[in-house]
Amino acid sequence: MSHAHISVDNQIGPVGAVVSGVDLSQPLAREVIQEIHSAWLQHHVLFFRDQDLSPTAQARFASYFGELDQYPFMQPVDESAFVIPIIKEADATMNFGGDWHTDTSYKAYPPKATLLYAVEVPQEGGDTLFADATAAYAALSPAMRAALESWQGIYSPKLVHGQSGDYKSVAAKQNLGDAYGGNAEFAESEVEHPLIRTHEETGNKSIYCSKPHTINIKGWTRDESLAIFRFLTKHLTKDEFVTRFKWQPGSLAMWDNRCMFHNALNDYQGHRRHMHRVIVKGERPQ
Ligand code: OGA
Ligand code: MN
Repeated sequence: MSHAHISVDNQIGPVGAVVSGVDLSQPLAREVIQEIHSAWLQHHVLFFRDQDLSPTAQARFASYFGELDQYPFMQPVDESAFVIPIIKEADATMNFGGDWHTDTSYKAYPPKATLLYAVEVPQEGGDTLFADATAAYAALSPAMRAALESWQGIYSPKLVHGQSGDYKSVAAKQNLGDAYGGNAEFAESEVEHPLIRTHEETGNKSIYCSKPHTINIKGWTRDESLAIFRFLTKHLTKDEFVTRFKWQPGSLAMWDNRCMFHNALNDYQGHRRHMHRVIVKGERPQ
């Protein structure tokens, strides 16, 4: 791809691109930011290698794309209120983000972007998978698309973070921090969003509901709904929609939660993995 200020290589897989020629630790000119933004809308996830980013520099880069948001369930690092550490210690068994999802889709206004920076990663393992929810949606039959578009979902953090959620019980036993983060009431909350989301900037439609964040289709039982969620997850995680990213220290991924799913692989038992994460505020899903 030819851009005036950056190089964009989309040979990495079905979705996403590697961007080079830019030092994200420095303040960036408006033209450079615009090129990154348009490449991001086109490719859904951008990867940058060999960056040397302090939490402050990572937050500054993220702020070029919108107002920064705060994750409701974890405490930030000392240097920046907008950077949370994602750490899996060598003796931990559960990881953060280890299922197919889009970030915090159970919020009324979920973050549009997540910027994840690798501080320390295992030699082998700990890759992240990214799936193109726009291409996956487009590949469904017209009748299935029309049905899905007519249904609303009930989204909630409770399946993961609630009293009986997966994350809470494991977090209590392991070094994952307080799963509540002072948000016990929010952890049980529910919000209604469509199953299929229309991207505010591109107008493209994408699969948005997910097994960990959507309790049920409005008016359906959980069991009935799970049949649809399982089908959609299986569909959107076919090889033809998925790019696998191998991290190195200094890698940064910036993904669009409005049109893609991701899944952190948990295949590095006995090794430590340490990331820094920033999110950018988004719109109410339509
Ligand atoms: C996240 C997440 C994936 C990873 O930060 O939202 O899902 O690979 N992390 O750590
Ligand atoms: Mn995630």
